[in-house]
Amino acid sequence: MFYVTCLIRLTAKGKLSYNNGNMKEKIAQLKQQFSQEIKTITNLADLTELENKFLSRKNGLLTKTLKELKNLPKEQLPAIGQLANEIKNYLIGGIDSAKNKLASNVKAGFFDYTLPGQKPAVGHLNLVSEATREIAEIFSAIGFERVRAPEVDWDYYAFETLNMPGDHPARDEWETFFIDETPIKMNLPAKSLKLIKEGRRLLTPHTSNAQVREMESEKLPIRMMNISKCYRRQIDASHTPMFHQFEGLVIDQDINITHLKGTIEYFVKKFFGEDRAIRLRPHHFRFTEPSFEVDVSCGLCGGTGCKMCKEGWLELAGAGLVHPNVLKAGGIDPNKYSGFAFGWGVERCYLMKAGLNIDDIRLLYKNDLRFNEQF
Ligand code: FA5
Repeated sequence: MFYVTCLIRLTAKGKLSYNNGNMKEKIAQLKQQFSQEIKTITNLADLTELENKFLSRKNGLLTKTLKELKNLPKEQLPAIGQLANEIKNYLIGGIDSAKNKLASNVKAGFFDYTLPGQKPAVGHLNLVSEATREIAEIFSAIGFERVRAPEVDWDYYAFETLNMPGDHPARDEWETFFIDETPIKMNLPAKSLKLIKEGRRLLTPHTSNAQVREMESEKLPIRMMNISKCYRRQIDASHTPMFHQFEGLVIDQDINITHLKGTIEYFVKKFFGEDRAIRLRPHHFRFTEPSFEVDVSCGLCGGTGCKMCKEGWLELAGAGLVHPNVLKAGGIDPNKYSGFAFGWGVERCYLMKAGLNIDDIRLLYKNDLRFNEQF
C-alpha cells in the first residue's frame, strides 16, 4: 500500500500522475523479486508457473507494470520504455536459461517426477496369430496335437510321398517356389523310401508335407495339427503369395468319412458360429481318395454372392480320406489303418468370421495401422 502511495501523486489539475523515479524503483523491485524466485525453481512445472506469474500477457506482473507506462508524462517515456524492455528481456532470458538447465539435468540422469507420464501404446497380436491360436485351441479340445514341420522342405515330403511323382501334372496346381534349381543329395531318415536319394528343396506350398513326416514318427494312432506358412505364386483379393494353412491328420483303425465330416462341422460351428453351413464338393487330390473341397457359406454377404465369394460360398479347405499310397510312403499298412486329412487357409477362415466384413485378403499384410487398429 505504501508502495502504491509513493508512486501516485495528484497533479496541479487534480489528475493522477506517475513519478518517473517510483516507476524505476518498481521495475527494479520486479527484477529483484524474479531473481529470488527463480533460484528456488527445481522442476519444469514450477518454472512454467513462474513464467506465467511474471510474463503472462493477461495477468503477468510485467504486463501489469507496463500498463502503468501510459500514465507517465510523454518526455519520461523513452527512458522508462527502454528500462521496461530491459526487464522484459531479463525475465525471458532467465526463464530460457532455467529451462535449458533443467533439460540438461534430465539428460544427465535427473528425473523430474512432476512431469506428466507418457502412456505406452498398447498393441495386440497380429490378426493371423490370433486366428492361429484360436484354431489350435479348438482342435486341441478334441485331441489334435500341434506339430511343426519345416517351411523349407524337400520336394519329397511336399509332393513325392503325397502320390505326386516327378513329372505329375497335379504338381502344377501348387505354383511352387523352388529353392534348388537341380536335385541335390538328401538326408532322409532310414525308414523313408530308400529309392529316392536326391531331391530339390522348396518353400512349402501347403502344410501336407507334415503328413508323411508325422507317419515316420511311428506313433499310432495319429491326431495331428500342423499350422504353418505356405508359399505360392498367386496374388488377388483371395490369394497372397505367403499365407497360412492348418492341416489336420487322423490315422487310426476304422476311420471313415463320417469322422471327417463330423470334425469339419465341429470346427465350423466353433470358429464361425452355429448359423454357418458347410458344403463338401467332390474334388481330386492325389493324396486323398475320395477327395473334397470344403465350402463354408459366406459371412460377408450371408450367402447371396459378393466380390469375395461370387456365389455365396467360399472355398476354405481341401479334405479327404488318406490315399493308401501315402500311408505306405509313411510306413503304415493301409490294410490295417485308414485316416482322413484336411488343409484350410487360416487367412481365408479369418476373413469369413462373422461380423468382420473384410473383402480383400491382402489387407491382412499391408501393415496399415488404420486397418490393424480396428481389431
Ligand atoms: C491344399 O493345399 C491341400 N494340401 C489341402 C488338403 C489337405 C487336401 C489334406 C486334402 C487333404 P488347396 O490348394 O485347395 O489344397 O488349398 C487349401 C486352402 O488353402 C484353400 O482352400 C484356401 O483356403 C487356402 N489357400 C490356398 N492358396 C491360397 C493363397 N494363395 N492365399 C491364401 N489362401 C490360400
